[in-house]
Amino acid sequence: MNPEQPVISIRGLKKSFGVKRVLNGVDLEVNKGESVAIIGASGSGKSVTIKHVIGLMKPDEGDIFVDGVNVSTLDGFELDEFRRRFGMLFQGGALFDSMSVYDNIAFPLRELKLMPARETDARVRECLDLVDMTGWKDHMPASLSGGMRKRVGLARALAPGPNIMLYDEPTTGLDPVVGGIIDNLIVRTRDAFQVTSITITHDMKSAYRIAHRIAMLYKGKIIMIGTPDEMKACEIPQVSEFVADRTAHLDLVGRSGNEDA
Ligand SMILES: Nc1ncnc2c1ncn2[C@@H]1O[C@H](COP(=O)(O)OP(=O)(O)O)[C@@H](O)[C@H]1O
Ligand SMILES: [Mg+2]
Repeated sequence: MNPEQPVISIRGLKKSFGVKRVLNGVDLEVNKGESVAIIGASGSGKSVTIKHVIGLMKPDEGDIFVDGVNVSTLDGFELDEFRRRFGMLFQGGALFDSMSVYDNIAFPLRELKLMPARETDARVRECLDLVDMTGWKDHMPASLSGGMRKRVGLARALAPGPNIMLYDEPTTGLDPVVGGIIDNLIVRTRDAFQVTSITITHDMKSAYRIAHRIAMLYKGKIIMIGTPDEMKACEIPQVSEFVADRTAHLDLVGRSGNEDA
């Protein structure tokens, strides 16, 4: 792989469902070790975009390259292999309720037979430590708060050592303090392992904390991409209104103080 080339390159991506065009020519490049956040209104196509990146959806038009591989050309076994480059953190953490915290994190390592048992154990403990959940390893997911489940979900996603992390609304539904803890873990992951990442969020504070660059999706296209400072200074009305609205909304959520430690 050419070190100069972007890890993820989305070119002219178009996708419709029935008569509804969701993506109308999305272009986005993410470089090695870079953290890019995608913002945009609910239903604007953020999740659809990252589903194309891992090959869960096929483009109507356009191409997605990951490490120079055209994702659309992969199928079956190749696609399974390809997806191992990725770690995904879904909303809610998507843990197995019948397994302890420890077994949840060990699951992908055992399933993929990635390493001998002793190494698996060391890796699980390392990941538990990374998300500050060492003392909770024998607990069941039902006894954890939303923020803790998210941390375990992150540890599980990181356990196989992915090169790319995709986070779909990692702080949605969490109170601002817990959201801040998740943001810090995303930054720690980014800096400790040079993981390349895309994070979908509609939380501007979170986007500012975790992203090197922020991209705004609007009416099927990326209408602005820039650093947090460039985003704050952006005068495109759809961007500045979205940013102002989300920032005000977050302040209100902060004051209402919903609990989720
Ligand atoms: N599998 C699907 N079949 C039909 N419509 C879909 C499918 N997935 C997403 N959509 C539609 O595409 C639009 C964008 O969805 P999504 O990417 O999930 O939005 P968001 O930006 O909130 O993540 C929505 O209108 C959604 O209903
Ligand atoms: Mg979504």
